Amino acid sequence: MSSARDKARKVVRRSRSRGREAVFEESIIRTELLPADRPARWASAVERAVELLRKGQVVALPTETVYGLAADARSAAAVRAVFRAKGRPAHNPVIVHVESAEMARDCVSEWPPMAESLARAFWPGPLTLVLPRSKWIPDEVTAGGETVAVRCPRHPLFLEVIRGCGFPLAAPSANRSSEVSPTSAEHVLKALGGRIPCVVDGGECSVGIESTVLDLTISPPQVLRPGMIHEESIEAVIGRLGAGPRVAGGALRSPGLLARHYAPRARLVVLAWVGERDLERNLGKLGVEPARTCVLAHDRIPRQLNFLRVAVIPRDPEAYARALYAELHRCDELGACWTVVEALPDDAAWHAIADRLRRAATRQT
Ligand code: TXA
Ligand code: MG
Repeated sequence: MSSARDKARKVVRRSRSRGREAVFEESIIRTELLPADRPARWASAVERAVELLRKGQVVALPTETVYGLAADARSAAAVRAVFRAKGRPAHNPVIVHVESAEMARDCVSEWPPMAESLARAFWPGPLTLVLPRSKWIPDEVTAGGETVAVRCPRHPLFLEVIRGCGFPLAAPSANRSSEVSPTSAEHVLKALGGRIPCVVDGGECSVGIESTVLDLTISPPQVLRPGMIHEESIEAVIGRLGAGPRVAGGALRSPGLLARHYAPRARLVVLAWVGERDLERNLGKLGVEPARTCVLAHDRIPRQLNFLRVAVIPRDPEAYARALYAELHRCDELGACWTVVEALPDDAAWHAIADRLRRAATRQT
């Protein structure tokens, strides 16, 4: 396998926010796509990923939630390369991925009993713990803050890569900043192909939405970002949590909670309808044209109206989370102007999914 070659080129990129074209210098690099669907390929993908990460390069890797763009968490330069590739604002801290609670303890200056209990209950898995940082964690990782987010992912390939490296990996989701997270290697290539040296294809993500982020530096602890490890499950382990994400001292506790996040290009609306007539009326009021609209339904499936696409996602929170981002990516690929999502059950198990839909529906003005 040849290493990534830098080729400076002039690129025309469409500025998505304004629909205008902007020309700027960018460095296009060849992106290796490494399959991991057979034991020998898996082993060589892990080996190559470790080699690149040891050299301070960035590599997109599968986790059980979404694909992450990984870099050596000890290296400020490597982490800066992640921010550059994503176009991520420097004020948004990244999660440090570890292969064990022991490695997590090395990243933090305090490891309270609650962290130990949660790690035992949910790691490896989609729970991220925010704790006071170790001194050696670069400012680039914490965005200059005094806390660091740590998580032990459940995808065996990611775990093997961390073990092979022998150091923790800083990894945000492998998408362009504020766009929908990737749940397949193909999604990563579409967003970051030509900008990063390597993507490991570990199949589709089994959870499908980002981890639950829990702040353990405040009392009582508080969920900053809901995920598929629900508050009720966390409370069963450590007792009562504080109420809803909040703003502390004028600054967002978790910048990833910025309203517009996880946003597809198509305008997203969440709607409830009783029948197709009702749906048609509501769409008319909103100025939504069926022929340019994708529908994500789980219960009342529209059959008559001439939509661009009608996707049926099972009315089951786990299955829904797994399918959601792939459907949002599909709507954008089809060039839809609108995505109409059938309103979800108002139930704690759907909380994290409803949160992502709310953010996807929020437009910047
Ligand atoms: O499932 C996931 O968490 C995926 C996979 C790759 O692990 N990662 C992910 O990373 O979603 P990212 O960077 O896209 O989102 C991390 C979230 C952001 O909302 C960020 O603001 C928050 O975690 N975060 C990171 N460090 C933090 C800290 N020290 N304090 C508060 N929030 C933090
Ligand atoms: Mg993200």
